[in-house]
This record gives sequence, C-alpha cells and structure tokens, in this order.
Amino acid sequence: MATEIAPSILAADFTRLGEQLEAVTAAGADLIHIDVMDGTFAPNITLGPAIVSACTRATTLPLDVHLMIEQPDRYLDVFAEAGAGGLTVHAEVTPHLHRTLQQIRTLGVKVGLAVNPLTPLEIYREALPYLDLALIMAVNPGFGGQHFIPASLQRIATLRAWRDALNPACRIEVDGGINVDTVAAVVEAGADIVVAGTAVFGSGAVSDALVTLRAAAGR
Ligand code: DX5
Ligand code: ZN
Repeated sequence: MATEIAPSILAADFTRLGEQLEAVTAAGADLIHIDVMDGTFAPNITLGPAIVSACTRATTLPLDVHLMIEQPDRYLDVFAEAGAGGLTVHAEVTPHLHRTLQQIRTLGVKVGLAVNPLTPLEIYREALPYLDLALIMAVNPGFGGQHFIPASLQRIATLRAWRDALNPACRIEVDGGINVDTVAAVVEAGADIVVAGTAVFGSGAVSDALVTLRAAAGR
C-alpha cells in the first residue's frame, strides 16, 4: 500500500480552514490529522470537538484525532460524536489502557495509541493486537514546526518488525518534523502514514506542497 499522507491542520490558516481542507482533499490527502491539546499533558491548548465537527463539513476524508490530553476517557464519546474517524490516545496518560482502547473500539472508530520520543516502545508488544494505528511521535507534543528527532527512525523500524509479526493490519503513523528532507527516511524505516503540518500548510499553495511531499516520500 502506498504511503498515506495526513495533513495536520494545526498549521492551517484557521481563517480559511474550509478552503484549505478542500484543497488538500482535492490534492490527494488520505486523512486529516487533528491535534487536540489540553495545556496540561501538552504545553499548548489547541483544537476541540467543535473543530472536528466543522471539518466534517469541509472534507469527506477520515478525521484522525490525536488526543494529547490527560484523562482522555472523559472525551472519547464527544470526539466520536463530533465525527472523528479515529481516536489516538497517549500511553503516558492512560493507566487503564486496555479499558481505554476497548472504549474507543466500542465507539466504532479506529483505535490508536501514541508514544512520546523517549517512551519505551515495549507497550506495543502487548497493545498491538488491539490497535488500528500505532503513532510514533518524532517530536515532543506541543507545537508544529519542530525538528525531527533522528533516533525516531530506529524506533519506527523496531515497531515495524513487531507490527509485521503481531498485527499486520495495524498502520504505523509518524508525527512531527516531517518534510521533504525527512519523509523518505521515515517511509524507508517503515511508516505507513506520515503526518505533516508545516510542510503542507506552512507556505503558499497547500496542494502544491502536498504533491511535493508525496513525491519526496518515494512510495
Ligand atoms: C505535535 C503534533 C503534530 C504537529 C506536526 O505536537 O502532534 O501533529 O501538528 O507538525 P509539523 O508537521 O509541523 O511538525
Ligand atoms: Zn499530531
């Protein structure tokens, strides 16, 4: 399967969100990535369910909702009702992870688990059978436009081997610092889905940027 590209609207021009969503959809984006931050787990406050709901009116693409929030269980149903196609929670803030993943499954959306750059990957050995998405953070949660952490490549490759053995249907998603210079190595290491905020929305024509990124991804 070709690499999928998930533009992250964190870097979009919110005064023209509908227009920009239509442009990336027409240019061949595969998912729309929505970063939800609570100012506690992540040092920024970003998007909530009203934005998810608004996105459903501007694109038919699946909405890939990345919850960088404490106690995500409290909001899973709200985001599913708002139109999320998938909900990804962070391993660092989900002590009852099995229950949380089951709760997402019950809501009928894709089940995702994310880890920060230095969180041990071992949790995936146990969690992979429950997942549709395994998200490796290649920057620390909080802001767009950060530099890709090179050690992420080895982590992607490790996860890829476990994924192939334990749950081949699970997709590996990589988030943070992905641009024309880093995307090829990320795909080569084993990513199925690449998230890109600044690289898509950070300059001029978003559709051209998406096409350029896809070409740089190589496959
Ligand atoms: C970071 C977010 C990312 C962010 C990526 O906390 O999870 O999804 O939007 O932005 P870029 O592509 O600019 O690194
Ligand atoms: Zn994200």
